[in-house]
Amino acid sequence: MYAETPRDAPAWRARWRERRASFHADDQSGVWRFRELLPVLRDARQAVTLREGNTPLYDLPHCGRDAGLERVWAKHQGLNPTGSFKDTGMTVAVSQAREAGRAWLACASTGNTSASMAAYAARAGMRSLVLVPAGQITWSKLAQALDFGASVCQLRTDFDGCMRVLHQVAARHSLYLVNSMNPFRLEGQKTAAAELLEQMNWQPPDHVVVPGGNLANASALGKGFLELQRWGFIARAPRISIIQAEGANPLVRSLREHQGRELTPVEAKTRATAIRIGNPASWQKAVRVLRETGGYCTDVSEAEIAAAKQAIGREGIGCEPASAAALAGARKLARTGAIAPGESVVLILTGHGLKDPDYASDMGLASLPPAMEASAEAVLRALERA
Ligand code: F0G
Repeated sequence: MYAETPRDAPAWRARWRERRASFHADDQSGVWRFRELLPVLRDARQAVTLREGNTPLYDLPHCGRDAGLERVWAKHQGLNPTGSFKDTGMTVAVSQAREAGRAWLACASTGNTSASMAAYAARAGMRSLVLVPAGQITWSKLAQALDFGASVCQLRTDFDGCMRVLHQVAARHSLYLVNSMNPFRLEGQKTAAAELLEQMNWQPPDHVVVPGGNLANASALGKGFLELQRWGFIARAPRISIIQAEGANPLVRSLREHQGRELTPVEAKTRATAIRIGNPASWQKAVRVLRETGGYCTDVSEAEIAAAKQAIGREGIGCEPASAAALAGARKLARTGAIAPGESVVLILTGHGLKDPDYASDMGLASLPPAMEASAEAVLRALERA
């Protein structure tokens, strides 16, 4: 159920902009200020919010030049309260769960969903259960869930195994599941489309490029852009392209081998742990978004992801490896001519750089220099070598 119809684009745009300056927490939220696009709460002032959204759009001139593209931006969803785009959906799901009187939230996760769920559960005074694959998620993400008071179970399986177990537990214990099949999460995540358009003065970019794991984010952004097009806010939706890691590319294979009609799960393997998913829940929705927006789907190697992360870092912007897959993918699409040099491209950076601080050294990109003598001479010698 939506708040009101008909949709009055100029009035709504003005309202969305003005809310940012409001005193109310839900107006300050970059998700709830777009509440006309969201399922209603009985009490709009009862949103469980950490002031998510309102994330910056950066230009990436050097990354663009390297890729042979003139106009490349990054929307940094990693600058959300818990450091990933998950917060934009979680605020809506948890608000709905609290209104419904639910006590326990639960998810399977590669780390970011669990960090986000744990934070919003704590904020709402609810309990939360996290199932993660043992040894496969970064300590930074696990530490967040623990800090926020979640009950954490590390299972000796992969993400897809955690998902299976989660459904079995949910059949026997009352749990409110906040994985990406939760429709409220998608509704919240789709507001990033409105926010991006607002930042671009309602001139849609030609391309939006997003990393794909469980494929909820691509689906949500697609829903956002297509609704805004249908409702007259924009004349056309950008092409939404999905980038997977070569070792975790079930959607790429599905499109290549079965024209997107069926999906065979793969055993996922990538150092970009956030997108290490072999059996994505939202693949059919993602196929629809690719078709309806004319987007592309491709995969990138571990070396391409690492190089992209380094290139983004050289522009002063940190992101996690899964996010860098978006740039790696855009580079590949530019190489193959799918993206033309003059077209505008927005990369969705999904997670914060500090989510995975070991990545650079694990990939041999950087190492901590040894401790040295505390003297100006020693430092000057280091400067000469730099
Ligand atoms: N980037 C990051 C940083 C992520 O954490 C995820 C997903 C994705 C991209 C892919 O998004 O699943 O909507 O296609 N992380 C989930 C998690 C699975 O449990 O944190 P998607």
